[in-house]
Amino acid sequence: MADLTPLLAFRWSPRAFDPDAELTGDEASSLLEAARWAPSAGNAQPWRFALGHRQDETWKRILVSLPEHDQRWTRHASALVVGAHTGISPVDTERSAYDLGQAIAHLTVQATALGLHIRQLSHFDRAGLATELDLAAGIRPLVVAAVGRLGDPAALPPDLHARETALRRRHPLAALLLP
Ligand SMILES: Cc1cc2nc3c(=O)[nH]c(=O)nc-3n(C[C@H](O)[C@H](O)[C@H](O)COP(=O)(O)O)c2cc1C
Repeated sequence: MADLTPLLAFRWSPRAFDPDAELTGDEASSLLEAARWAPSAGNAQPWRFALGHRQDETWKRILVSLPEHDQRWTRHASALVVGAHTGISPVDTERSAYDLGQAIAHLTVQATALGLHIRQLSHFDRAGLATELDLAAGIRPLVVAAVGRLGDPAALPPDLHARETALRRRHPLAALLLP
């Protein structure tokens, strides 16, 4: 395998987060700043974010929108970040969702640089979260990112522990290259 920059090579998505670790204000700002400086089509910057620190009001509102089976591990993350976009028409939605993905990717790389880990979730009650956060019409939450420091995988429920310690896999590069 070709060498990757360590920031990419060391990134992975855990479920075991340290339930005692807190995200500092500087760390939170650094993550959002990384997202803010992501590229976007026409520099439209169609992304919007909400960040809740564990046990604060925003965090509680985000947590309840997640499936119960994911709340088992997300509740230990130091923070939950909502990634939303502003695309309304079908064309806007496609572009905005693409740009939001880039912003979250930047945030993820910055998290790695800070010694933090992230696991993203796209299965959650989007309408419920928009209501919980009182989002303006046209702001569409697309992803929730759990952010924190690595915890003890042994503390996970057995089904999650098995997934947490499974080998990570990718398609071979040759299978991704178009003819
Ligand atoms: C947009 C997106 C949505 C995801 N949704 C979920 C999810 O709902 N639940 C979950 O446990 N993991 C979710 N993940 C994590 C992926 O399963 C994980 O990134 C993938 O298995 C690759 O593993 P790695 O990040 O450790 O390389 C999501 C990741 C992304 C990028």
